Amino acid sequence: MDKSLPKTNITESYRVIQITDSHLFADESMALVGMNCQEGLEDVIELVKEHEEAIDCILCTGDIAQDASQAAYNRFAAQINTLDAPQLWIPGNHDIIASMEQALSNKKEALEKTLRLGNWGIIMLNSCVEGHIYGMLSEQELEHLRTELEVMQSEGLYVLVAIHHNPVPVNAEWLQNHSLQNTDGFFDIIDGYQNIRAVVFGHIHQDFKISRNKVLMLGAPSTSIQFHPEHDYFSLDKENPGYRWLSLHGDGTVGTGVRRVVGKKYKLDLSSKGY
Ligand SMILES: [Fe+2]
Ligand SMILES: [Fe+2]
Repeated sequence: MDKSLPKTNITESYRVIQITDSHLFADESMALVGMNCQEGLEDVIELVKEHEEAIDCILCTGDIAQDASQAAYNRFAAQINTLDAPQLWIPGNHDIIASMEQALSNKKEALEKTLRLGNWGIIMLNSCVEGHIYGMLSEQELEHLRTELEVMQSEGLYVLVAIHHNPVPVNAEWLQNHSLQNTDGFFDIIDGYQNIRAVVFGHIHQDFKISRNKVLMLGAPSTSIQFHPEHDYFSLDKENPGYRWLSLHGDGTVGTGVRRVVGKKYKLDLSSKGY
């Protein structure tokens, strides 16, 4: 048997929820290009409660706070904690890691860089570069990825990787300058393993799904503003906030989709040229 392919156990399935890009402010009443981000997050959390019976892990994939305030991180933590499920956080380009970590001082396990769920392993990557919008994986992060993939392969696990910045191009040209820059280094490693099933990311504020060498590349709606998927310049989309769900099956297959808030219209400044 090929040692790189995990054993299959088709009876198990794990439910993973991705919550991303909440862009909260210290002041709950503050709006981002017209939208109240606190309201969006609260609505998405309610949506999750309505639809998800048992959550095995919540992936919080960055851009938690727009103003990097401690109050924003604390409020985000309080909201996520109401879901009462294991959680893993990684920072986005808008985040201040020290403040983010402070909000998790009683929940340090959320900062772990790996998690195992049956015959699945999850690897979290920090792609942030201080002072820059774009993403880059440091040598240390690439080494973390390489090492964990090697260990998880030897344990016979299927793998899900989470990162804030998109490692593949999306149709919105303006987002390309802001994407992960050292994709060659990333994919040189990813392409060396056959047990990776999906890479999930935030940052692009839109539903996105392609398959690259049989590995799913998945973007998610934000819990705040949505970016239009096919514009060459900054453009807001009228789609409502939402989240991505994943079912990690024991046989290595992945079910996934996005769910958005329905029956509500959010205030939004559609003429805005940036955020
Ligand atoms: Fe964002
Ligand atoms: Fe971002």
